[in-house]
Formats: sequence, C-alpha cells, structure tokens
Amino acid sequence: MSKSTWLATPNIAVVKYWGKRDSELNLPYNGSVSVTMDETVSTRTTVEFSPSLSRDIFSLNGKTAKPGETMRVSRVLDAVRRAAGVRLRARVYSENNFPTAAGIASSASGFAALACAAADAAGMKASSKQLSLFARMGSGSACRSVIGGFAEWKKGSRADGSDSYAVQVAPASHWPHLRNVIAITDAGRKLIGSDLGMQLTVSGSALYQQRVKKMPSLIREMKSAILSRDLPSFLTLTMKESSNMHAVMLDSTPPIMYLNDISREIMRAVHSFNEQEGETAAGYTFDAGPNAHVYTTEKHARKIERMLSDIEGVKKTIACRAGSGPRRLKEKDALF
Ligand code: PMV
Repeated sequence: MSKSTWLATPNIAVVKYWGKRDSELNLPYNGSVSVTMDETVSTRTTVEFSPSLSRDIFSLNGKTAKPGETMRVSRVLDAVRRAAGVRLRARVYSENNFPTAAGIASSASGFAALACAAADAAGMKASSKQLSLFARMGSGSACRSVIGGFAEWKKGSRADGSDSYAVQVAPASHWPHLRNVIAITDAGRKLIGSDLGMQLTVSGSALYQQRVKKMPSLIREMKSAILSRDLPSFLTLTMKESSNMHAVMLDSTPPIMYLNDISREIMRAVHSFNEQEGETAAGYTFDAGPNAHVYTTEKHARKIERMLSDIEGVKKTIACRAGSGPRRLKEKDALF
C-alpha cells in the first residue's frame, strides 16, 4: 500500500454519451467515440489508503469537497477496494489546471486520474479495461479518458456493466496534426448537472429514441473517418452529432439549454470559415456547457484561434492536440 499520484486529461466526445440505462452503474444507452486531449488541460490526483482514516476524504482544488462529490469518489474507490481486496479508507486530493464543471469535461479527467492513482495505490497492476470500468463508476465519460488517443466506449449489454468500458480506436500518433481549439465563453459551473439533464431527456424527449437508434451506424462512420484521417467527414459528423445531442436536450421537459448566444455565434463563424476556405477545415462540438471545442488541423489552428478570440464574449482560447492518456507522476509531485 503506497501513495500514488497520476495525471489524466479530459476527452471530448465526437459521438456523445447522453442518457443512462442504469444510473447507479453509469451504463449508457449508446456507445460513444472521443479524443483524449494532451496535457494542456489536466487533472492531477494523489491517493493514499490509510488505516488512520474512518472515511474517505476528498479535497478538490484545495477545498474540502461537498458530500455528493465525495460520494462519487467513494464509488470509484469501492470498485478498486473490491478488486484489490483492500478495506482501508483513502485520502484523495485532486487539482485541475482549468475551470471545473464548465464543459471541459473536468469529471472525465478527474475520475480517470482517480481510477489510475487508486488502483496503483492499492497495489494493483490494473489493465486498461479494469481502469476504464473503475473510472466509469465516477462518471460515464471518464471511462474514455483512461485511454490515450481515440477511444470508443462500448455500451455493453450486461446488467452488471462488466462489458461497458472504453477501448482504443487509434493512438494519438495516428493523427498528429489534429487540434482542438477550445473557446471559453463562460467559466462558471453549469446550472443543470449531466445526471439530471440525461434523466430529463430520456424521460421527456420523443426524439431521443431516434437518436439512440442511429448510433451504431454513426459510430461505424466516425471510426472509419478517424482511421482514414478523413477530415471533412470527421468534422461534418462531429458538428451534426453535437447539434443532434443539443436538439434532444431542447426537446426535454423542461428544455435543457447549455448553449449561449456566444456558442451560436461560434457555430456560425465556423461555417463561414469553411465556406471561405472552400473546404470543411473546422468543426465544433459542445458538451453539457457553452464552451466550444473546435476540431481542426495544425494548418488552420492559428487562424481558428484568432477567429474565435475575435468573437465578442469569448474569454479565452486553448489549443490542444490528442494526448497519450494518463501517466504516473513522481513522488515529489504528490499533492500531500
Ligand atoms: O460523464 P458525464 O456524466 O460527465 O456526462 C458527460 C456527457 C457529455 O460530456 C455531454 C458527452 C460525452 O460523451 O462526453
């Protein structure tokens, strides 16, 4: 039993997870596909199991976390404890180098770093499948962040969730020129968490069934666009899929609206950029928040960054590449 510190990065889905068939185990109605980001945005997490603790302690960005957040951390720790045969409680410190809960998937990098650090601290030599299953217990999308490069979360069909985990589609090195230019339009916390938002959509949107039905073919097309580095297809599928998710959100009761006027302005700007270029060279996607992720290639990244910075209300832009997944940090990098 030792202390372990891991760094993990967010992933941004191009085929999105929205809707749970089991909310305890975070099991999705559909599979999803994502790109794990490089370390420009990252979460660092230190875990230590200790006989002196009577409960799990969780501190996020230097502050004691709320009970609900600590409960989600304990669900990941419980899964690790069961697999490793450990009974001790743990101290967990976690820090993001980017705004939490603002649509940059802080939960994904956070729970991926937690799964890796907890399994390591418990003395396990966990496989990427096990790590993905552990991370999924904290938040569904986190199961993709334990995988570097391009990942597919297989939805699985078993009731216990043992076949619902992420696998690699291609390593980051497969498409080194790909960039994600993030435009922060609002760094505050989102008003509706993804758990509640998904429930409202599944129970209230008549369009949702159609969305789920076309997912297997969309996933096949997306993986083929990635494997052949077909940029126009990748970007077009990504934009349409983002809008489809936001359409079923709007079709929920009450309607869920994560996008703001600035997000919509970004969508317009990307389409007119593509028109001017005479090719589909950039494509946006939005998670459960108003910040844009604009996929493009190295060739256009500077221009896209300038274009996004010029939009009124865009507070900051951050350009990332695909990254190679979580890694263990040295003892001197531990958060306690
Ligand atoms: O894993 P959660 O509960 O944070 O859900 C995130 C869902 C989206 O980010 C909106 C889409 C996705 O697939 O990441």
